[in-house]
Parts: sequence; structure tokens; C-alpha cells
Amino acid sequence: MKTIIVTGGAGYIGSHTLIELLNNTDYNIVSIDNFSNSSVASYDRVKKLVSRPFQTFNIDLCNENDLRLQLSGLTNIEGVIHFAAFKSVPDSVADPVLYYFNNINSLNNLLKFSKEKQIRNFIFSSSCSVYGNADELPVTEDTPLKKAESPYGHTKQIGEEIIRFFCASNPWLNAVILRYFNPVGAHMSGLTGELPVTKPNNLAPIITQTALGKNTLTVFGSDYNTRDGYCVRDYIHVTDIADAHIKALHYLTEHRNKKSVSLYNLGTGNGVSVLEVIQSFEKVSGKKLNYGVGPRREGDVVAVYANNSLAKEELGWSPQYSLDDMMLSAWKWQLTIEKGG
Ligand code: UD1
Repeated sequence: MKTIIVTGGAGYIGSHTLIELLNNTDYNIVSIDNFSNSSVASYDRVKKLVSRPFQTFNIDLCNENDLRLQLSGLTNIEGVIHFAAFKSVPDSVADPVLYYFNNINSLNNLLKFSKEKQIRNFIFSSSCSVYGNADELPVTEDTPLKKAESPYGHTKQIGEEIIRFFCASNPWLNAVILRYFNPVGAHMSGLTGELPVTKPNNLAPIITQTALGKNTLTVFGSDYNTRDGYCVRDYIHVTDIADAHIKALHYLTEHRNKKSVSLYNLGTGNGVSVLEVIQSFEKVSGKKLNYGVGPRREGDVVAVYANNSLAKEELGWSPQYSLDDMMLSAWKWQLTIEKGG
């Protein structure tokens, strides 16, 4: 049986992708995580939503020798889906070196390992943060990349370049780079979702915690040059993101890719303001959110949303879930956590 390695499989997007891989493909699935911002409980939740087993390894990808040693017995590896990375914009501003060290070294080690094992297919988690403050919206994959607004975004720009150069010098390797816009929501069952070890600083978990009085939502800036003064993002359901990885994997393994490195925007195409997210949450949960408005957050871009035509045409992917679905699933998951989830 052919194997797919998923790095960061205990994390937010990784765990949702494990579910889709296990339910919709026949591959042997191997997950690597070092639980730096997740826990083994994430695997237990995945197990409840799938009907077959998967292998797990506790590996820090920055430790090249440990990676090689622990995975030495793996053969017939068809592809790697690389999620494992630090992902907080504000944390990256506070500690840039940590972000450069972790996100770049882990990618380099994984590419070296892929070369040693002659793994032909590589899928990389990138981000819309690579666009910086783009001159024109929506952004297409050809939109010129501006200066990254945060070290996090810069590590994604560098990661994309590393993959491009690596593929150019190793023609047997094919890669898909997926630029996620803002993944939110949880599995529609409400049985699993985002559960970072550290305090969340993404909007959706802060909203759901605030609704229960466990956090305080401060909206970062209401004086932006947008239609209602609030930052605009393209929120996309995490299961839609997970599904795109299955489509990208098939795209590579069926040799439908025209280039050695293919690049896709994963967003809904809708620019949504922070206020509109709050309103959607209040509608689906029936809860009034008690929030305040504070100053702008360093590292935030003003507005970004996707043109997703290329992913639709070439991968055959299309987002299925609405903003209300995203908020409702996030809320169901928060209630599951409250019950000891
Ligand atoms: C960024 C990336 C995204 C990546 C994510 C990972 C951009 C444009 N997007 O998302 O691709 O997946 O990091 O973490 O760089 N907000 C508040 N109050 C809060 C928290 C957030 O008002 O307490 C606002 C932010 O200002 C922003 C929006 O909510 O406008 C979303 O913020 P967040 O969820 O942190 O994601 P991004 O930083 O946009």
C-alpha cells in the first residue's frame, strides 16, 4: 500500500485533512507532529470520525536525524503534505527568529528527506499573507507579491521560493503550493476543531470563547479604508481546505500537473469584514457578543480576498460551506469543548 505523510497532523488543518484522507482515499496515512501547539487528544478525536487506523510519530522536523531515524522503515511513500509550522501573525512579530528557525528548517529537512526517499509529490501549506498589502483585489496567483507584513508571511514567501528552487534542481519532484486565505470553522459534526495549546489569537476561537465569557474580543481597528472600516479577509471552512489537499494529491498522482510547481489560492472569493463575521456568529448562535474596538494590530494587512478560479478549473475544487456554516461549526465545537470534548 502506498503511504502519504502528513506533517502537523494533530494540528488544526492537519487533523481535518487526516479525516478526509482516511475517509476518502485508500492510502496508508502517517502523521508526524511534535505537539508544539496541539495534543494527542486531537488524534483521538480524528479516530472517532474515521473507520480505519493511521500511524503517528512524535518528531520535531527541525531535528533532521530524528526524522530520518524514526521514519527509516517507511517505504513506498507516494507523497508528503506539509502543514507543520508556526502560524501566528502577532507571535511572529514578537519573536521573528523563532518563526524563521522553525518554519524554514522544518521545510528544508523535509525536502532533504523527500530527496533521500525519492518522494515525488509534495504539497505545501502557504498563506495569503504572501501577498502583503496587494494593490488590486481579488488577488490571483499572478498578483505580484508585496513586502510581507509579518515574519510569518515572510516565512511562507521564503518557503515557496525554496520549493521552487528545489523542484528546479530535482526534476523528479512535483509540488503544489496552496495559499490558504483565512481557515475557520470546525468539522460539521462539532466533534473536532481548532484547539491550540497556547491562547488563541485568531478571530474565530476568540469569538466563540468570548460568547461564553472565557475571553474578551477586541476588534483590531475600525478606521481602515474598507467599506465599514474593519479589516477584510476571505474566510474559508477548514473542511473545504482539507478537501483541496485530497484534490491536489490526486492532481499530482494522476500526472495532471502542467508544471513541476503549481500554485493555487484557496479562498471563497468573498471579502468579509470582522464586523460581518461577528454578525454571522451572533445570527447562528443566538448569542450577543460583548466586544470592544481597539487599535490596529501590527502585521495585519488591510484587506485580502481570493480569485479562486484556478483551483476550480485545474483541481476541480470548489468551496462548499458558507460563512454561517463556518461560524455554526466553530460554535458547536466550542460547546463540545465545554462538555469536556
Ligand atoms: C493570517 C493569514 C492567514 C493565516 C493565519 C494563520 C493574512 C491576511 N492572513 O490570518 O492566511 O491562515 O494568519 O494564523 O495574513 N482580529 C481581531 N481581533 C482579534 C483577532 C483577530 O479584530 O482578537 C481580526 C484581525 O485584525 C483580522 C481578522 O480578525 O482582521 C482575522 O485575524 P486572524 O484570525 O488572526 O487571522 P489573520 O491574521 O488575518
